[in-house]
Amino acid sequence: MMKVIILLLLFIFPYSIVRAEDGSKLWLRYVSVSKDVAHNRSISIHSKDPIILLAKQELVNFWGKQSIELAVDRKLTYLKDGFKITGNLNRIKVIAHEPVGLLYAAYHLLQLQATNQPVSNLNIEEIPSFDIRILNHWDNLDRTVERGYAGYSLWKWDELPGVISPRYEEYARANASIGINAVVINNVNASPQILSSQYVIKLKSLADIFRRYGIKVYLSVNFSSPKILGGTKDSDPLNPEVILWWKNKVKEIYQVIPDFGGFLVKANSEGQPGPQDYGRTHADGANMLADALKAYHGVIMWRAFVYNPSSEDRAKQAYQEFVPLDGAFRDNVIIQIKNGPIDFQPREPFNPLFGALQKSNEMVEFQITQEYLGFANHLAYLAPLFKETLDSDTYADGKGSTVAKLTDGTLRPARKTAIAAVANIGEDINWTGHHFGQANWFAFGRLAWNHELSSEQIAEEWISMTFSTDNKFIDPVKKMMMGSRETVVNYMMPLGLHHIFAFDHHYGPEPWGDQEGGRPDWMPWYYHHADTVGLGFDRTSNGSNAISQYRPPIQEVFGDIQLCPDQYLLWFHHVPWSYTMKSGRSMWDELCYKYDAGVQQVRAMQQVWDRLEGQVDQQRFVEVQSKLKIQSRDAVWWKDACLLYFQTFSKKPIPYDIERPV
Ligand code: GCU
Repeated sequence: MMKVIILLLLFIFPYSIVRAEDGSKLWLRYVSVSKDVAHNRSISIHSKDPIILLAKQELVNFWGKQSIELAVDRKLTYLKDGFKITGNLNRIKVIAHEPVGLLYAAYHLLQLQATNQPVSNLNIEEIPSFDIRILNHWDNLDRTVERGYAGYSLWKWDELPGVISPRYEEYARANASIGINAVVINNVNASPQILSSQYVIKLKSLADIFRRYGIKVYLSVNFSSPKILGGTKDSDPLNPEVILWWKNKVKEIYQVIPDFGGFLVKANSEGQPGPQDYGRTHADGANMLADALKAYHGVIMWRAFVYNPSSEDRAKQAYQEFVPLDGAFRDNVIIQIKNGPIDFQPREPFNPLFGALQKSNEMVEFQITQEYLGFANHLAYLAPLFKETLDSDTYADGKGSTVAKLTDGTLRPARKTAIAAVANIGEDINWTGHHFGQANWFAFGRLAWNHELSSEQIAEEWISMTFSTDNKFIDPVKKMMMGSRETVVNYMMPLGLHHIFAFDHHYGPEPWGDQEGGRPDWMPWYYHHADTVGLGFDRTSNGSNAISQYRPPIQEVFGDIQLCPDQYLLWFHHVPWSYTMKSGRSMWDELCYKYDAGVQQVRAMQQVWDRLEGQVDQQRFVEVQSKLKIQSRDAVWWKDACLLYFQTFSKKPIPYDIERPV
């Protein structure tokens, strides 16, 4: 009887709907093939390379269509990590220069299948935009994660190398499926302990798993490691004893992990040690490490996120620090630059350092974890944010010098090109805290692979692999995702406002924040400058003159209050409350409408999602619904708090057709 009832229920509700679904499978929901299918097609290879064997295994398990031949062709050097797929209804041929190219091709084919794309008459050639496509984990050795909102770190250091969590391999597979080929394991605020021999052995066990998926491990290192770990007198990069310590440490790492990627360094920033502690430059520090790694083809990613409390505008400091050093860095050093000049705000103009360095390698650093975008509580699809920076024209080498083309080798040949993002991954069952946070991990990988993909296309791929291939589901969800980042901008920091978050945790609003004795450059007033005249940071030549770091014609556009796009207005200008905006409204009214629009837009997202009940498994439906409720309340909180605070300066009424602050 029971069986009959279950069968009846399965008939009424398709299996995928009644099954509890915790999101742990991410976008990797390929369906295993039946024996019949397996019997009627073959997957052939001509190699015993472990990565090629893995590519074959993925296809043996999940590919339900034609027979496939996988082959490496060492002559096709231009393909590097890429691949070519050709074929018809009977047979597909896949060629790559590297074994990992065949693995990427296998995932590409499985994605085509999973998203119902035609797989006959294939003629595909894919070459990744960047050589190094790297996630930066800000994971501490005690398993807390700096700015991490998805639980503890995945890396169980106390158990390694003895116990291997199955999640290490699942994580590697997810990365490989979107082309990510490198990971920095630990926080940029690095503990020197990560370089101890004990941790190097632990790291080896992760590297051994990741290698099978074409992923290299990198480490964040603390510049004072020689002194703290090695007992040297100091950590001066010109001290021969220090140079030798690093040389020996690098040798030790490569003996254990022969394909180790290199180091990421945060130096002389936010209290971290660095070469300047000894009167040396960033170039002295980076080059000393680069020399130690050179023989092993290792890379140094040296962060440009440097600023100090001073009378100088924080937005200008990285440029001032690094431009004079242009040309001084070794060719295995890449300067890693945050997308904007402040710190991963929901919107920033591009960092003026892009392109300003003429003779140094540069790479972009994005943040996937939503430190300033509502943590893992708010739905904010970040592909449009990533694209906005990548497509920004710096004019550094003339018109068309986008950030993407300056960093992907198109305009400036580089030994190795790279792109990085701070991961949003943790121990949570669904990996990222919010189910839609998975989309941002996916989107970063897809854009690192091909920065010309559109945000819509990536959203569509992700939705159809993660939730449903039904257009009745895809279309509204895609629309909701596409508007979501702008929605967050509207209720958190409209018109170019920035860094008005509560001190330190960066979740809610605190534009009034003024910690006694706190660093002025961490206080919100430093950024919004509200007074009886108006609002916003004057970065024109009358103010900090940060606009001088941009090239013409960008400089003229950002620097002219009439020409400056609304979205950057308060970033670059101190604007009178009654200033007439392009919309014809006063700046104050426009601000009120933007905050209100943000609130209304989250409510509209709730309605979109509520209508989809029944089209997605109940567990994920309810979990997303609950997060949207939090987001909706937070949006009201942001609107009310900011408007009531700024009103104490503007002394103007809030227009009556918008929702009153509670
Ligand atoms: C932000 C963040 C810090 C982080 C820093 C960095 O300031 O709040 O937690 O360490 O960025 O990127 O180094």
